[in-house]
Amino acid sequence: MFYYSHENYSHQNSTFSKSYFKIKTTTFYSMIVKEGKVAIEVPDNHLKKAHFYNPRMELARDLTILVLIASQKKDFVACDALAATGIRGIRIAKETQAKHVVVNDANDDIIPLIKKNVLLNNLTNVEVTNKDANILLFENVKKFDYADIDPFGTPVFYLEAAAKALRNEGIVGITATDTACLSGTYPLVALRKYGVKSFKTDFFKELGLRILIKSIAQAFAKHDAAFIPLISYAFEHYYRVFGRIEEGKRVASENLRKNLGYVAYCKKCLNRSISKEVTCKCDVCGARLINIGPVWTGEIEDYRFVKKAEDVLPSLDWLKTSEEIKKLLSFLENESKVSLYYDVHKVCKVYGMNVPSFEVVIKKLRDAGYSVFRTHFCRTGIKTNANLKTFLNALECTKRLNSFTEARDISPDYD
Ligand SMILES: C[S@@+](CC[C@H](N)C(=O)[O-])C[C@H]1O[C@@H](n2cnc3c(N)ncnc32)[C@H](O)[C@@H]1O
Ligand SMILES: [Zn+2]
Repeated sequence: MFYYSHENYSHQNSTFSKSYFKIKTTTFYSMIVKEGKVAIEVPDNHLKKAHFYNPRMELARDLTILVLIASQKKDFVACDALAATGIRGIRIAKETQAKHVVVNDANDDIIPLIKKNVLLNNLTNVEVTNKDANILLFENVKKFDYADIDPFGTPVFYLEAAAKALRNEGIVGITATDTACLSGTYPLVALRKYGVKSFKTDFFKELGLRILIKSIAQAFAKHDAAFIPLISYAFEHYYRVFGRIEEGKRVASENLRKNLGYVAYCKKCLNRSISKEVTCKCDVCGARLINIGPVWTGEIEDYRFVKKAEDVLPSLDWLKTSEEIKKLLSFLENESKVSLYYDVHKVCKVYGMNVPSFEVVIKKLRDAGYSVFRTHFCRTGIKTNANLKTFLNALECTKRLNSFTEARDISPDYD
């Protein structure tokens, strides 16, 4: 039973007003939140009830709008498969050129609130459904031009259904909040959920994204489609990947053949490399390497798409997080050119050095002809195509590179 009533209520933040409603036997006080071009009602204890509305995800929702507008999709059909209050799907219906948006949640308690929010925004292009996301997506084979998968925790359960529901050249936005598992803290969980042998490294955020993208690409390949990443990033408590689907057996096989591989990591000297096959011995210190994989070793951003999004962003003047998005995109534009960042602080800790000036290190490497970029993954990170020895030279490391049996084994810090 759904019951709604409005009370006058003032709040220090003028974007909120308050009312209350009943879901089954529980009464919730609610407030109106404005985000993007919509106003939606959320329970005022939404910060405790994370499954209702999470203001920290506004950037992810703003970016969803930007991706859809930058992709120039018009008259398209979208699906917000795990919608909670419906805010993402409702925003897509209001702020993009979507023809029809299916807003779905399996929790029947929340459906009246989604319906109320659709009415609140005078939308006629939204259909609210109450199904398990997998059932909804499998019932709608090749019906959607955009699908959003935004669960709590891992998205792996929904990847194959998303692949089936997308039309050729459709786009999918996928969130993962199981960051500990993806970052190598729980290798057995990563093996179970993502089919990847993982390990905690100093570039764990990038590795987590590469594990996630590998599992998306593999799920899509099972249904004879390639998954091509457009924008991928790690932010606060979540990972998010936008990518497009390209149908075809050959393109699906090629996509995996070209872009899956292993990261070989030396936990003694921090050497790392990407290869198609497993590698046994560290070519810097001779220690046994840890092979992490298979992971996505290809590009995790489409820099042309990132550029397009950067060009479109200034016209979307209603996005409150546009400054943060601008900063993020400026990192991503370059980041795809080089893989596996070094966390300078960790490197210095392992080598017993003081942290040098980043500007000096970057200049030295650039002057020597290497590509060098800062990374959105880590404030103390540097991405470069210089190998470990060159990088250490730029840090003015004086430790002899064949003396790593003496170097402190860093693994306890990361396990
Ligand atoms: C993280 S919330 C979604 C947040 C929302 N996308 C937003 O931007 O505010 C996840 C939602 O998925 C719903 N959910 C969980 N399992 C589901 C399933 N199997 N099918 C559909 N919805 C599901 C939950 O009820 C919850 O509302
Ligand atoms: Zn080594």
